[in-house]
Amino acid sequence: MARAQLKAVDLGHSQRRSPGVIGVVGSGTMGAGIAQLACRAGARTLLYDPVADALARGAQRVREGLGKEAAKGKLTTEQHQQASDLLEPVESLEALAPCELVIEAAPERLDVKHELFRRLSEIVSEECVIASNTSSLPITAVAAGATHPERVVGMHFFNPPPLMRLLEVIAGVRSCERALAVADAAGKAMGKDVISAADGPGFLVNRCNRPFGLEALRLLAEGVADIPAIDRIVRLGGGFKMGPFELSDLVGIDTGFDVSKSFYELSFGEPRWRPSPIQARQVAAGLHGRKTGRGYYDYSGERPHRPADPEPPAGGSDAIVSGEGPLADALRARCSGSEGPKIEVDGLGGLIEGEPFYALVPLSLVEVTGEAGTKAFAGLGLHTERVRPAPGGVLGRIVCQLVNEAAFALGEGVGSADDIDTGMVLGLNHPRGPITWGRELGFEHVLATLDELWSVYREERYRPAPTLRRLAHDESA
Ligand SMILES: NC(=O)c1ccc[n+]([C@@H]2O[C@H](COP(=O)([O-])OP(=O)(O)OC[C@H]3O[C@@H](n4cnc5c(N)ncnc54)[C@H](O)[C@@H]3O)[C@@H](O)[C@H]2O)c1
Repeated sequence: MARAQLKAVDLGHSQRRSPGVIGVVGSGTMGAGIAQLACRAGARTLLYDPVADALARGAQRVREGLGKEAAKGKLTTEQHQQASDLLEPVESLEALAPCELVIEAAPERLDVKHELFRRLSEIVSEECVIASNTSSLPITAVAAGATHPERVVGMHFFNPPPLMRLLEVIAGVRSCERALAVADAAGKAMGKDVISAADGPGFLVNRCNRPFGLEALRLLAEGVADIPAIDRIVRLGGGFKMGPFELSDLVGIDTGFDVSKSFYELSFGEPRWRPSPIQARQVAAGLHGRKTGRGYYDYSGERPHRPADPEPPAGGSDAIVSGEGPLADALRARCSGSEGPKIEVDGLGGLIEGEPFYALVPLSLVEVTGEAGTKAFAGLGLHTERVRPAPGGVLGRIVCQLVNEAAFALGEGVGSADDIDTGMVLGLNHPRGPITWGRELGFEHVLATLDELWSVYREERYRPAPTLRRLAHDESA
């Protein structure tokens, strides 16, 4: 259907060059950053905001942003001047008439966006592509406000736009190929790594990251580990810059809770995306994170909300490792295997002197359940953290759910495997993409962990994606 309708607006050029005139609607946090990128890409950039002060502030921020780039040597004096000259703050939406691409960065309300898209449809030419930078509204729903919904696409920039390398280009149900190609070309001209995502809750990146916060909340609710321990395990064991609770405090627990509710509603109750009562309780208590001085951590005092992470222990002891697979190999690489405690590896963990333990490759931290594990793994120079026995432990469960969510997204055609990995690394600073991680851990081990979670909880939340089963099967074939 999209291709048939495309004929109504496509005047014949299969356009791949970046648009020469770009309009940006809304000059707040995102709009100003996007306008800076448009100027840098060499486009005449028309910046509009209905609030005069906001427009002035936004234009000022664009100029300052370009100035900073020049000061850092990223722009020559001449390039800086050229880029600055391309910015034109405009006081009416009608002034956007000459645009080939308009990027909307107005408040996140469907009624506001519908009204804008309706008016823009009357102002710009039929060839002009209209993009929304919405982070949570379905592009298909936003496009319904436009006269030609096939020219509407999503261009999801990450905050701050000039610094974050990723751009998600999202196809609504009716988006046409030409509009997607224009958005792609504009994104590339702005220096972005562009990935393609299908429309749906959270598009690609935010959808694939759902388990990072939600599985951590579930682990907390079950008492597998406390907040600082979960965050430490994720940082030290997983190589993430921040643990899920610190991140949630940064984003705002109230914002995160709204996003969770929106995912759950848009999916008509997908169990993997069910919000947590812990989020609801934090919001009800007014403990929203950094912005209120307290969330999962306390930010009110002089001291940082947590101590600095320790260096790994010195090591120097030996152990006897049995079992096969990447984890057993990584442990064997740390000892001669001639004496010491016996470590039996099975999948993403195993037993040490009868105590369960959990660890992922690349190996830097082991989740232990007793004294024998604490002593033995510290003796091998590894961080340890005490947890309660539970399938997959903390990091294994979060990562297996990340891999599973990515496999669902892959199977549902939300994005390609490469785009999923690129999106998670560049958009969210994950240490590696979930598909790569699944391959490193062994998809069969990921599947076995999910099967174990399923057998313990009997919850749909832990059902393995059909694509995960296929990947595990292909791996063993
Ligand atoms: N802030 C983020 O981290 C982030 C990241 C990705 C996407 N987004 C999305 O970008 C959009 C803008 O978010 P933001 O953080 O820049 O918001 P913001 O509040 O900083 O800026 C919004 C701007 O829109 C202006 N505005 C108000 N009504 C308008 C109207 N009718 N038409 C045009 N402009 C209007 C406001 O004056 C304001 O300057 C939202 O859709 C949001 O979901 C935000």
